[in-house]
Amino acid sequence: MANIKKYIKGLGVCLILLLTGPITFAQTESLGMMESLDPSKIMTILVLIVMLLVLLVAFYLLIILRFMVREDAIRRAKEKGVEYVEEPSAWSKFYAGLTDAVPIEHEATVELDHNYDGIRELDNHLPPWWKYMFYASIVFAVVYMFMYHINGSLPLQVQEYEIAMAEAQANKPNVEEGSSIDESNIVFSDDPVVLASGKTVYDRNCVACHKAAGEGGIGPNLTDDYWLHGGGIQDIYNTIKNGVPDKGMIAWGDVLSPSKMNDVSSYIHTLKGTNPDNAKAPQGDVYKEEVLAEEGASE
Ligand code: HEC
Repeated sequence: MANIKKYIKGLGVCLILLLTGPITFAQTESLGMMESLDPSKIMTILVLIVMLLVLLVAFYLLIILRFMVREDAIRRAKEKGVEYVEEPSAWSKFYAGLTDAVPIEHEATVELDHNYDGIRELDNHLPPWWKYMFYASIVFAVVYMFMYHINGSLPLQVQEYEIAMAEAQANKPNVEEGSSIDESNIVFSDDPVVLASGKTVYDRNCVACHKAAGEGGIGPNLTDDYWLHGGGIQDIYNTIKNGVPDKGMIAWGDVLSPSKMNDVSSYIHTLKGTNPDNAKAPQGDVYKEEVLAEEGASE
């Protein structure tokens, strides 16, 4: 019973730690060591420490309990007059299961009659941990082979690389292209190449709201003299680039390169006065190029 006293002493130490731990912790805080931590973090740390100590105590109780059970078993064995044999622990059972090795005492039973200059051979089983890993690797290889090389449902490294590059390319804001162009220096261009490119951009991105000929739909008519945000080439560029998010006009600056916005601005400029069918009623103010051109861009 001398042993159990040792355990109970240990338990006492644990309890003292449990009670004083948070207090010492709180004191270190007042020493200014924890100034950088906010109170919620300190709380979390305290709770964690308490949890740890509680776990420790629980573990200790378990050891004491096991000890007492063992002690009891020894006493009963003595009463019956038989020798006490200890049960193998769960761990040693598990370990034996993993290795499946014949204990050294019984090695003679698995000895083969080969003898090479005194080196003898044992006929142990393959260790199960190794065997099952081997089987698992075969299964893995089959699945891998199928997914990557036969079915092709998962990308190989090179494909992964290509996919990543394509994604990066697609997400890249096209700033390099004509990045020197902005609303302050854009000028109207009647270059057919520019206008053709502008029409392509328009047809791809703008038709849904402004309609094929710019007659207007969800978005305003772009062919009349009335403009909500100014009809000068710089105003148009500005509207396209920054959009009118509240009103449903997208900020194309995130999507189109400056040179594309340049082209589509010029293209829209050429639509002025084309009088398409089904034109939407005018919105905004009359924009007079001559007057405002002198004043510069205006809203
Ligand atoms: C999702 C619909 C939508 C798309 C797509 C769209 N717009 Fe617009 N656009 C609008 C709306 C709505 C307005 C009006 C904003 C307001 O009321 O202030 C507008 C306004 C404009 C104006 C200003 C008109 C004015 O009267 O001042 C221009 C220029 C313009 N859009 C160009 C474009 C271009 C170029 C594209 C394609 C790159 C485009 N829009 C794509 C909805 C759209």
